[in-house]
Amino acid sequence: MQPVVIRTARLRLDLPLPGDADAVTAYCQDPIFERWLTTPWPYTREHADAFLGTYVPAGWATASELTWAIRAVEGGPLLGVVSVRETQREIGFWMGAEHRGAGRMSEAAAAVSEWVLGGGIPESATVFWRAVEGNIGSAKVARAAGFRRIEPEHATVPTRDGEGTLPAWYAVREREADPRAEASWDGILGARS
Ligand SMILES: CC(C)(COP(=O)(O)OP(=O)(O)OC[C@H]1O[C@@H](n2cnc3c(N)ncnc32)[C@H](O)[C@@H]1OP(=O)(O)O)[C@@H](O)C(=O)NCCC(=O)NCCS
Repeated sequence: MQPVVIRTARLRLDLPLPGDADAVTAYCQDPIFERWLTTPWPYTREHADAFLGTYVPAGWATASELTWAIRAVEGGPLLGVVSVRETQREIGFWMGAEHRGAGRMSEAAAAVSEWVLGGGIPESATVFWRAVEGNIGSAKVARAAGFRRIEPEHATVPTRDGEGTLPAWYAVREREADPRAEASWDGILGARS
């Protein structure tokens, strides 16, 4: 599959490039990545080079995982990353620490979900989100992007080494806006004021 550019009101989502390695290396030193993500830890420049030079292009080529750089403008610095795995249409994301709290990730996650459900990945009825239990920032992004929390019996995510699991929060987004979506988060996030 050819990489796809998605535009939103404030953002341009496009292909992460080898030239983004400095930014990716710097952002991935963030201690909260150790807790909430499965990105390598400690994270080195070699990890960024392999991610940008091999992993991302291979994901697009095989359509197994589609990964976008979040930028303000074409050719601008990478601010964060959002991806969708073909299996289960699972969305994942992170934002560089200095760019958080401005609603950019919510905007990017909503746009990618709408693109998937609009036929970007054929035959997608839902987009799936999960996060390690307690990841309030990620849950707020999922709520803002229109996801509805679900509570399956065995809700887990794999640990970084892939050998264990951690309790997780799950949510889905469907093609039609779900009127129950907003209230489904009240139990963990409280009602939005
Ligand atoms: C989760 C993350 C992507 C949010 O990025 P962001 O750019 O701040 O997202 P937005 O600006 O769209 O914020 C959405 C909401 O989350 C809140 N938020 C963001 N980070 C938060 C945090 N660490 N703790 C609590 N709330 C947070 C924002 O205040 C905002 O709240 P609101 O809806 O009440 O206004 C970012 O904190 C991050 O990269 N975290 C580490 C990686 C990670 O956990 N990724 C998700 C893995 S499942």
